[in-house]
Amino acid sequence: MGLFLKIQQINKDFNNQHKVSTVLSDINLDIQEGEFVSILGPSGCGKSTLLSIVAGLTKPTSGAILLNGQQITKPGKDRGMVFQQAALFPWMTVEENVMFPLRKEMKKNEAREVAQHFLKMVQLSNYAKHSPHELSGGMQQRVAIARALSMNPKVLLMDEPFGALDEQTRARLHHELEKIWLETKKTILFVTHSISESIKLSDRIIVMGTRPGTVLDDIHVHIPRPRAQHPQQTAKLTEKINSLLQIEIDKVVKEELGYAVNN
Ligand SMILES: Nc1ncnc2c1ncn2[C@@H]1O[C@H](COP(=O)(O)OP(=O)(O)O)[C@@H](O)[C@H]1O
Ligand SMILES: [Mg+2]
Repeated sequence: MGLFLKIQQINKDFNNQHKVSTVLSDINLDIQEGEFVSILGPSGCGKSTLLSIVAGLTKPTSGAILLNGQQITKPGKDRGMVFQQAALFPWMTVEENVMFPLRKEMKKNEAREVAQHFLKMVQLSNYAKHSPHELSGGMQQRVAIARALSMNPKVLLMDEPFGALDEQTRARLHHELEKIWLETKKTILFVTHSISESIKLSDRIIVMGTRPGTVLDDIHVHIPRPRAQHPQQTAKLTEKINSLLQIEIDKVVKEELGYAVNN
């Protein structure tokens, strides 16, 4: 395990109606190969912007992203993305959806084999010939995970992938994602605003503050897996992160109240 993904001095400004607002300020992170890292922070702190910069979809105002020493300037198949909405093609079967990005790389039969392998990994082999609308939200997300993994990316970038799911489905997918991670040893960058989700899944939690987005803390989680069997250690860490984030939420509320009073 060596240094793998480097997020170096990232700053990001957005121009809104002639006003510049700084969304990310001096973000520095070194991520090791195979690590499961959560980016945790309140809504609006810049998590999606940061992930999008790592994906190569958004350009930083300054700073660089390095993957294995190479600077990232655009999207690439070395980074697989999973969003909150699965965004499957409705006119294709489940299997065709997973095969779609592979078709540029390989022959149809080969692509089908790869798709079947990853559909099996997410336990959807029996649904290969179904259409996405026949699947529940949780199953659709599993297809999206299979699709992202099928390209054999070096890093899996996930932006609140389970945010739209009910609690039971979410818990199942946590379990499944943990299994997939243990099996594939992929490096995962996982954006969430849920403290419990981040503790359940990650080796490391990057806690972000807001306005502008900065790194407040970088916490290594040493609780043995499965974490559900260690409720006391989990509660302790939850408390620690909760108080960190509460300061941020109070800050935002105060600023918004100030804004209301002054306007
Ligand atoms: N394309 C854009 N143009 C202007 N402002 C943006 C743009 N994208 C995001 N923002 C702003 O940047 C801030 C952080 O957004 P985002 O990264 O989506 O936060 P999070 O994912 O943590 O909720 C928000 O205030 C949002 O309004
Ligand atoms: Mg977001």
